[in-house]
Amino acid sequence: MSSNAESGSVIISPSVLSANFACLERDIKEVEPFVEWLHLDVMDGIFVPNISFGIPVVKAIRKVTELFLDVHLMIVQPERYINQFAEAGADLIYVHVEATPHIHRAIQQIKSLGLKAGVALNPGTPLEQINEVLPFVDVVLIMSVNPGFGGQKFIPTSLSKISRLRELVDREDYNVLIAVDGGVNIENAGELVKAGTDVLIAGSAIFQEKMPIKEAVCQMRDNALSHPY
Ligand code: DX5
Ligand code: ZN
Repeated sequence: MSSNAESGSVIISPSVLSANFACLERDIKEVEPFVEWLHLDVMDGIFVPNISFGIPVVKAIRKVTELFLDVHLMIVQPERYINQFAEAGADLIYVHVEATPHIHRAIQQIKSLGLKAGVALNPGTPLEQINEVLPFVDVVLIMSVNPGFGGQKFIPTSLSKISRLRELVDREDYNVLIAVDGGVNIENAGELVKAGTDVLIAGSAIFQEKMPIKEAVCQMRDNALSHPY
């Protein structure tokens, strides 16, 4: 995976956490023609103070879409469930650096199943915590809200965290995409891409905006790419 930031492209991954769970297929079909990835948030009520959905839902979503599925595990000791999420149809699995003492092993496990591996960082976790795994991951996910809920406000310091990561990735020439998750919207998409983001993950700005899903995604992409590099 090479960086999108310089090529003037961006990946948009709508988070189904903000979709209508009673009409998931309808919402996915609506967004499908306009995006590259689909973001699935798995929460266990322990790592984060909320419970969302698990393996059967990922499996059901896999059956109705060809979109690249990036599965965000917000669960403790994610290595216990990596195989099952791979079988369910994940294309990429993110594990949180705070969720396991064995982040390197978890990443190896994901890669050994033939999937892309991502490492996620909470807002309070310094970038230094992922130094040793940067050569092994395909995506770094910067959380720009405290994980657990959709519809929260973007934490502004996340922007400089993204810039610093961009600098490091470019300097060391790592083959890594930078994703941002939490409070991403039509307004901040431009500065996020300018700071070095490759993947915009957005839930409420796409599924609960007071405009049609198609329009929300297209405006987000336009704004994301309107900043000159
Ligand atoms: C939060 C999740 C996000 C969430 C983002 O814990 O990881 O993916 O869906 O929602 P918005 O875009 O509404 O902040
Ligand atoms: Zn997420």
